Amino acid sequence: MAFNSFVKMDSFFRLSSSAILSTLLPGVLIANSVSPALSGEVRVYSGRHYNTDRQVFKRFSEETGIKIRLIEATGISLVERLKREGANSNADLILLVDAARISNAAKSGLLQSYRSEKLDREVPEEYKDPKARWYSLTRRVRVIIANPKVVDTKQIKTYADLSNASLKGKVCLRKRNSPYNQSLVADQIVLRGESKTREWLKGMISNVSEAYFPGDIGLTRAVAQGRCGVGIVNHYYVARMLAGVNGSKDKNLAKKVRVITPNPAHVNVSAGGLAKYAKNRKEAIRLLEYLASPEGSKGLASPTYEHPLIGFNDAKELKGFGKFRPDGVTIKQLGDLNGKAIKLMARQGWE
Ligand SMILES: [Fe+2]
Repeated sequence: MAFNSFVKMDSFFRLSSSAILSTLLPGVLIANSVSPALSGEVRVYSGRHYNTDRQVFKRFSEETGIKIRLIEATGISLVERLKREGANSNADLILLVDAARISNAAKSGLLQSYRSEKLDREVPEEYKDPKARWYSLTRRVRVIIANPKVVDTKQIKTYADLSNASLKGKVCLRKRNSPYNQSLVADQIVLRGESKTREWLKGMISNVSEAYFPGDIGLTRAVAQGRCGVGIVNHYYVARMLAGVNGSKDKNLAKKVRVITPNPAHVNVSAGGLAKYAKNRKEAIRLLEYLASPEGSKGLASPTYEHPLIGFNDAKELKGFGKFRPDGVTIKQLGDLNGKAIKLMARQGWE
């Protein structure tokens, strides 16, 4: 099948090794007319929303001759789609961001278990499902951002400090429905226990004055503008702004924000697993093993400013964030405590 364009959201595109890809631009894929006979393909449903992933898929296709069809959508709509499609689903490999998302997909029976010597060796214990239904691919750190003109940044070292009464009216948070914050709360339950986490939430939430934010970028802007003194976001949003990915206005705003990486820090992941009804299982396994390998993980993480599974992203935009040391909470633990975290957040008034 020849093709000459694809729509970013929710539609197929194909990467072919031998169908000569002349250009790969965001949103446009140009190939010459005739594709050779299929030598195997893999259909990827991805909740990772980064154009740069396509370069990694392209490299895989070139190396293996396996073509990739990609469906991109938000995590929640991918999961709903998979449930709707059931055994008729075309998905072979599923990629999702956030610990709760991937473990909920596994609990809903959308993934199948697969173990290999390569995955066992290359994915560290804390970043994979003990039942082998999913494997992490990249890491992200939930960091604190602060505006030094509004708050004394020396007083803020960890998430717990956000409950300090001196920050009254200065804390801004993303909405409760963001899985990133749910996983942060789950992380704190593991490390500090339920009652200390409850106290922390109570204090931090009483410091909130602005309306809860729908996204980490808006929150970062608000801290930069001094509307908020301090907030919590995933580190790569600030890095992307600093790199000018969202334009020069955001780049200048990001420069006003101080990133405080707690030590140790809460680490979240993007992860992948074989779809329950994968029809191209062999090819999907090959791609999963590639994405989880040091080369694949680095390929995904480098351009998005995430960190690979092992080691760190050394982009210059991340230099000022400080080294991070993972707090050791496993991705499985975050998934297991997701329900409890949401309940606790709601009860303490996290909107
Ligand atoms: Fe994100």
